Amino acid sequence: MPIRAATSDDVKTLASLNQGLIRDSGHRNPMSLAELEERMSSWLASEYKAVLFEEQGCVLGYVLYRHDPEFTYLRQLFVMPEARRRGIGRELVNWLKANESLVNNRLRMDVLIANTEAIEFWRAVGFKDYCLTLEME
Ligand SMILES: CC(C)(COP(=O)(O)OP(=O)(O)OC[C@H]1O[C@@H](n2cnc3c(N)ncnc32)[C@H](O)[C@@H]1OP(=O)(O)O)[C@@H](O)C(=O)NCCC(=O)NCCS
Repeated sequence: MPIRAATSDDVKTLASLNQGLIRDSGHRNPMSLAELEERMSSWLASEYKAVLFEEQGCVLGYVLYRHDPEFTYLRQLFVMPEARRRGIGRELVNWLKANESLVNNRLRMDVLIANTEAIEFWRAVGFKDYCLTLEME
């Protein structure tokens, strides 16, 4: 089975994948790799859990999530660029549905409006539009 729960030993790998996620999703998060590592470490030591997709010893993707009072919140999902469109993202979401007790049987996540490819992905794996976040600067 290429999917396994992450441990504190995976923090460095996860922080580097998180950096790829920020880059590829067009997120405005300015954190350095060291800061991402520190944040990931404290997340995994508290309310978050991560699951990794591995092949031949290489981590190709991950999902990070936590259980909130009304739903399970999927905070991050990333698949390495060279491993995309092979069904890994879908497998990670399906793994959560099959192996985690989702709060109220519900998964929720946020996506940036400009990240149209990810929006296509979320819809393809079964998510429906629920909330639109607006802001003014
Ligand atoms: C979004 C992401 C996680 C998808 O992972 P993936 O492993 O490539 O997705 P899958 O191969 O499981 O795709 C499942 C289905 O989603 C849809 N899909 C996936 N990527 C898509 C794309 N770029 N454009 C359109 N549809 C897409 C397709 O319907 C696909 O099925 P198909 O390949 O049989 O047509 C990956 O592209 C990624 O890491 N992107 C950068 C980070 C990011 O934006 N993460 C989400 C933040 S909200």
